[in-house]
Order: sequence, then structure tokens, then C-alpha cells
Amino acid sequence: MKPLWLIVTAAGSGTRMGAAVPKQFLFLEGKAILQRTIERFVEAVPGVKVVTVLPKEHIPYWKKYCLERSFTIPQVIVAGGITRFHSVRNALERVPDGAVVAVHDGVRPFVSAALVRSMAETMQSCRALVPVLPSTDTLKALSAGPDGVLATIPGRVLDRSEVYGAQTPQMFLSEELKAAYSQAFDTSFTDDASVAERCGIPLSWCEGERLNIKITRPEDLLLARAILSL
Ligand code: C5P
Repeated sequence: MKPLWLIVTAAGSGTRMGAAVPKQFLFLEGKAILQRTIERFVEAVPGVKVVTVLPKEHIPYWKKYCLERSFTIPQVIVAGGITRFHSVRNALERVPDGAVVAVHDGVRPFVSAALVRSMAETMQSCRALVPVLPSTDTLKALSAGPDGVLATIPGRVLDRSEVYGAQTPQMFLSEELKAAYSQAFDTSFTDDASVAERCGIPLSWCEGERLNIKITRPEDLLLARAILSL
């Protein structure tokens, strides 16, 4: 069984939340969202090794938080980069070859232990695994003009039955993901699967979870409280 490593991406500034601290540090029923995310993963796979990527300027804040709250799960703390891609690349330097590496957004505290476990198991016999959900909304391809006004892109039609939303955790073989992350940055790299795919790593898919939300905007906190109360 290959060891499991977890990279928790939490180096974003969270500007869409409009809060004083980045969203991963916001409290949800008395605990930072980031703590909840890490705890959920460790509960699923107790031996997992955790690499937490943080904004450089918030590293002292997080260390103090963990100390004061006796949050003792061992973490390798890494400073993030300018984009998520650069943050993951920094974290991968701390992950050994021969492992399965899961990359998970620090603001997705509701992934189920069952999904994490079943993905880790599937990864013993595949190269990359990504949870996805079919779209329930009708999707439109639009572009914003310089004035911010939306307009249709002529000729571009999206077939809803072919479009899925990708979630995290996404899992890979560590040496393969490291090789993929050695390529030059491209703005289309908004998740790890897009980086891996460009390198020719075959992707496998599994069913994601509706409650595995990415807490991004203020109203997501309302949803998060509702999920916690389930
Ligand atoms: O910006 P987005 O919502 O896609 O961010 C997804 C995750 O990536 C968040 O957990 C965020 O903290 C993280 N991130 C990062 N480094 C960045 C930007 C985002 O670790 N430079």
C-alpha cells in the first residue's frame, strides 16, 4: 500500500469573501475552516502526512492558532505562491516519490471520509483520480467585454450532458504529479487535473459530492452552517 500524502491548499487571499482574514481562517461554529478540513482528512486516513500551504504572511498566525487551540495534527507548513499552481508546486517539493498525493482545497471541509477512503483505495491501481459532478444548471459560454458586460461567444454551445464540475481532493502518483508541475505555468491550470492532463497522465473519474462545497463567498458560510447542523 503506497503511503498517502495530503497537500492542503490554503494560500489564497480569499478576496471574494470580503473578510478581514482569508476565508480558510474564518471560524465555523468555533473552529477555523482549515482545521475542519485537515481533521476531516485525518479522520478518514489516520496515517496521512499533511503539507499545509499558507500565505507567507499568515504562517505565524496559523502556528499561533494551532498552539493556542492545541490543534496538534503534524503539518509541514509551506509558503504559497502567486497562484494555486505555484502553491501546489511549492508543496510538492516536500512530498516523497512513491506516494499517493491528494491535493485538497483548504476550504472544502465537508468532503466525506467515505469518499477520501474509496479514492485512496482506487489509487492503488490507477494513476490519477478526480471527483466530478454533472451540471444541473444549463451552462452558457459567455465572455465579459472591457466594460464588464457579458456577451455570448458566437458558435460556442455547451452540451450540459458533457460538462462536469471538478472538485477536490484530486489524487495522483507523487512522482508523476511532481513531473507535471515542472512544466511552465499556463492560465488554464485551475486545478491539478488540468496540469496532469497536459503532461499526458491518464485521468480517471469518480462521483463527487454535492455537500463537498468550496467555501468561497459570504453566502457559502450560511450553507456551511446548515451542512454542519445536519
Ligand atoms: O481561488 P480558488 O477558490 O480557486 O482557490 C482554491 C484553493 O486554492 C483555496 O483553498 C485557496 O486558498 C488555494 N490557493 C492557494 N494559493 C493561491 C491561490 C489559491 O493555495 N495562490
